[in-house]
Amino acid sequence: MIFTEKNISNDVNTYLSKNNFSSIFILIDENTKQDCLPLLKLDFTYKIIEIKSGEEHKTLETCQFIWKTLLENNADRKSLLINLGGGVICDMGGFCASTYKRGIDFINIPTTLLALVDASVGSKTGIDFQAQKNMIGIFSEASEIFINTQFLKTLTTRELLSGFAEVLKHGLIYEEKYFNDCITSYLDKTIDWKDVVKKSIKIKSSIVEKDPKENGLRKILNYGHTFGHAFESYSLQFHKKSLLHGEAVVLGIICSLHLSEKYIFIKEEKINEIITKIQAIYKFINIEDFNLNKLFNFVMNDKKNISNKLNYIILREIGNPIFDFEVTKNDFEDSLLFLNKKVFKND
Ligand SMILES: NC(=O)c1ccc[n+]([C@@H]2O[C@H](COP(=O)([O-])OP(=O)(O)OC[C@H]3O[C@@H](n4cnc5c(N)ncnc54)[C@H](O)[C@@H]3O)[C@@H](O)[C@H]2O)c1
Ligand SMILES: [Zn+2]
Repeated sequence: MIFTEKNISNDVNTYLSKNNFSSIFILIDENTKQDCLPLLKLDFTYKIIEIKSGEEHKTLETCQFIWKTLLENNADRKSLLINLGGGVICDMGGFCASTYKRGIDFINIPTTLLALVDASVGSKTGIDFQAQKNMIGIFSEASEIFINTQFLKTLTTRELLSGFAEVLKHGLIYEEKYFNDCITSYLDKTIDWKDVVKKSIKIKSSIVEKDPKENGLRKILNYGHTFGHAFESYSLQFHKKSLLHGEAVVLGIICSLHLSEKYIFIKEEKINEIITKIQAIYKFINIEDFNLNKLFNFVMNDKKNISNKLNYIILREIGNPIFDFEVTKNDFEDSLLFLNKKVFKND
């Protein structure tokens, strides 16, 4: 991983000149084409592969387009794919590169907060399938990751806050002070994204290093995601205006916090204090109706469940998560009722 705040073009050019790639491809969407590609001035010739932005395009059809473009342009096993974009581009580009001709090199240049602190790091690549999040994919490590927060300047607040959900998750599972500092500095408008990105990558990397293939400890990085992915998948399929990944994760985190209270790990006042802090930032999340049974089907399809058991990550205290905690359908329903009351103020 290269932290390259000063001059990303120089650093990427140096990397390219050290490696003898037969051809170079850059995967972008219409937004990263406009806002990010101009910041990357390469001394090498490359071919652009442009896809449409958005989670709804993280599909097999888009992969086919990417593989087809690689093939038509004679990409061989010494070619390189540069993923210039958010989590969708990094996840799908990594997957396409890792499967094309049994695998070519790819590098990640994350351009959203979410991709900087989370999606570009840790070797998970993949796509959605049959309306289920990240159903098809493989662990595959990027040859290099270039970290530069300049890209955040053009990101919308909604997208920035979607990524911030993963940062807050890092605080909740790892260090309460980090969670509190992030909330306070964001609200004070003193937040330094360089520091946040560094710290969050450090937290994520330290966990991934200990358990790269998610046999145990790494599961804690999925905090809030069992419910979160269900909200996200459901919303993608049924809502007119879909939730963003991080927005769905925020809802998932609130549901998970409720279970810490229900199982008497954390006191109600503490849970309320944390949720109030989260709500100070995420005032705007507004969801259309969710059908409980349909939502529950998404929860049961979560990759983290083995043999139909509902495995869950729950906080024993802030910064101290437990994984493979078994919960019931009733817990799940309770959490949704709690969410409804707490966030949406419906009784
Ligand atoms: N692999 C992992 O470990 C991992 C971890 C977390 C999330 N994810 C995945 O990441 C995805 C979400 O990532 P995301 O939030 O980055 O979404 P995204 O890739 O869809 O990007 C969000 C939007 O921002 C635009 N954009 C990107 N960079 C920009 C910039 N610098 N300026 C202006 N606009 C820009 C994109 O075009 C897109 O419209 C989900 O699919 C999620 O499953 C993967
Ligand atoms: Zn996530």
